Amino acid sequence: MAATGPRFIGFSAAYRDKTIALWNRVFRAMPNFVPLDRDTWRARVEEFAVPGGESAVAGSGPARFDARLFRLALLEDEVVGFAHGGTWEDEFLARLLPQGEPARLGTLLLIAVDPRVRRRGIGRALLHDLETVLKETQSVEPPLCADGRGYNPFYGNFVAPLPPPWGTAEGIAVLGTSADARGFFQACGFREEVEAVTRQRDLGDRPSFSGELPAGAVIEEIADYQPILGSDDGSPFPVPNESRTWLVRVGDVQLGAVVGFPLRRDGSRWGIHSFEVDPSRRGEGLGRMLLSYVISALAARGVETLEALALPIEGAEADRLYEKLGFEKTDRWIVIA
Ligand SMILES: CC(C)(COP(=O)(O)OP(=O)(O)OC[C@H]1O[C@@H](n2cnc3c(N)ncnc32)[C@H](O)[C@@H]1OP(=O)(O)O)[C@@H](O)C(=O)NCCC(=O)NCCS
Repeated sequence: MAATGPRFIGFSAAYRDKTIALWNRVFRAMPNFVPLDRDTWRARVEEFAVPGGESAVAGSGPARFDARLFRLALLEDEVVGFAHGGTWEDEFLARLLPQGEPARLGTLLLIAVDPRVRRRGIGRALLHDLETVLKETQSVEPPLCADGRGYNPFYGNFVAPLPPPWGTAEGIAVLGTSADARGFFQACGFREEVEAVTRQRDLGDRPSFSGELPAGAVIEEIADYQPILGSDDGSPFPVPNESRTWLVRVGDVQLGAVVGFPLRRDGSRWGIHSFEVDPSRRGEGLGRMLLSYVISALAARGVETLEALALPIEGAEADRLYEKLGFEKTDRWIVIA
């Protein structure tokens, strides 16, 4: 490759195909990878805007694609890396951060460098370039936070089928085995925040649901619904998606929920996350019942494999229940903050 270093520019359509090609090269080996094509890229990145405007995604900052903040690293007109950034702000963030930290942060949503030119400082230079542009255009100071602390409206897993380059719904996560990315983030001052585990269950045994719900309880399936346990409220997810939510309800009150979404365009593989039972009703078997119901409902629809994401640090019980119901551990992920 060139003797001179890379130059950095904001995304432009002239480099769309090369950007997509690099994406596919970099993330091809990741679990649940779906090749990115032009249409998906356009819909999910370049032309992406949350319906309702910039602030529709709570806690995300601008959800509209800003080409200036999708940085490309070019070597002799070849795209050899990219980094996508944004800002994150809201009152939720203010509560989360230690006193004194600004309630508006620059965020790193994604970074990748061509395997052929790694360990030459391009990743670090891309990050620096993104910090500079975020400072100039958004008035946020470095350091950036990775979106393990924020919310990434782009690429998010729960709106699959997409080409998710990471395994969690929590933003930037890297495989526990990925020495490159872990070494890079560590060297650049990011924290490894939490571990996540993915498990999977083959549905070929076509399990059927035989549990008995407590008196008055029903299981309900709703499209595109973010539950609020203990209440009768909820809302759609902030971006268009194909998710289904299963609720255990007594009357109007939501006692338990799990969110599922297709991980393949043909629907053969689904993922579930955000599995939770209201703290006041734990230990009564509701979780097991809900999960068994979802397993059988998806099996009946021809889903072949179900993947579950668990954050053991937040819910060891959920992880254990997945295990009891036949989910085997597949990958360990580190969420970067
Ligand atoms: C993470 C990634 C962007 C790093 O790009 P890069 O251009 O190779 O990184 P740099 O050369 O700038 O490395 C900067 C520092 O990170 C650390 N680092 C990078 N790769 C490392 C590795 N394999 N092992 C240990 N440390 C590493 C080093 O300290 C390095 O500095 P040094 O070379 O002076 O020792 C690249 O590995 C990549 O694209 N990975 C796949 C995509 C990905 O997982 N992205 C994260 C999720 S979005």
